[in-house]
Amino acid sequence: MPKQTGIVRPDTRRVVEGLRDTGYTFPSAVADIVDNSIAAEATHVSVWVSFTHSHEPIVTIADNGIGMTQMGLENAMRYGSEQRKDPNSLGRFGLGLKTASTSFCRRLTVVSRDESGAPNAATWDLDDLASAGEWNLAIGDADESEADIFDAGVNEIEELGGRVASGTVVWWDKVDKLLKTKSGAQAKNMALAMTRTQNALEMHLRTVFQRFLDHDDVRAPNVVIGLNGKRLAASGSILRENRRR
Ligand SMILES: Nc1ncnc2c1ncn2[C@@H]1O[C@H](COP(=O)(O)OP(=O)(O)OP(=O)(O)O)[C@@H](O)[C@H]1O
Ligand SMILES: [Mg+2]
Repeated sequence: MPKQTGIVRPDTRRVVEGLRDTGYTFPSAVADIVDNSIAAEATHVSVWVSFTHSHEPIVTIADNGIGMTQMGLENAMRYGSEQRKDPNSLGRFGLGLKTASTSFCRRLTVVSRDESGAPNAATWDLDDLASAGEWNLAIGDADESEADIFDAGVNEIEELGGRVASGTVVWWDKVDKLLKTKSGAQAKNMALAMTRTQNALEMHLRTVFQRFLDHDDVRAPNVVIGLNGKRLAASGSILRENRRR
């Protein structure tokens, strides 16, 4: 008997849950999002990692890159986005935005606008995916709270000295995997765990994006990266400055 072929669809819930566990550390996950911002020609990126008023951890990464149309945003949210056109691009599998984000949060919202349009927003909510069992993406004009998030990102970029003609804000919500001990339990002292997380992230970003942050380094374009409003210096630049004196 000849073999038959049939479409065997992956189980949505099992796939997205599995993709939450692909080995990202928190700093490397944030760095993957910043990497996208730099690939989108951002001159300024603002990373914010803190608590909401109701003490929930929240992470946002805002940039003044080229932004996206609604079609671009839909492509960005696809697991397995189209390959980037730039042959020098660091993009590999079209997964980073989604897998880096959901390694730490259960809801990923991206609000973006290109030079000509009003902001669009799209959300992957893993709880909705699980209950629907389908890859249902919420996408369309940014609503009031999403527009507020975009405006907050614009303010952060401007505080860092950047101009925003277009840009993108990545917002991690329902952040359930961040302030955990190695055994997976909730950290007892959340404030201390947050400070440690912020410090580790700062060191990682300063090292990974050293060439971009060091404005004397001609190998990469100059980028300003802020963490919770503080402008980051390239790792090693303090050492070098001391040597110059
Ligand atoms: N900040 C951003 N500004 C503009 N476009 C973006 C931004 N972030 C993502 N995109 C778009 O979304 C697409 C998907 O991003 P994603 O990080 O998932 O994949 P990738 O960067 O192409 O590959 P990789 O799997 O290596 O990260 C990008 O190719 C880009 O077109
Ligand atoms: Mg990427």
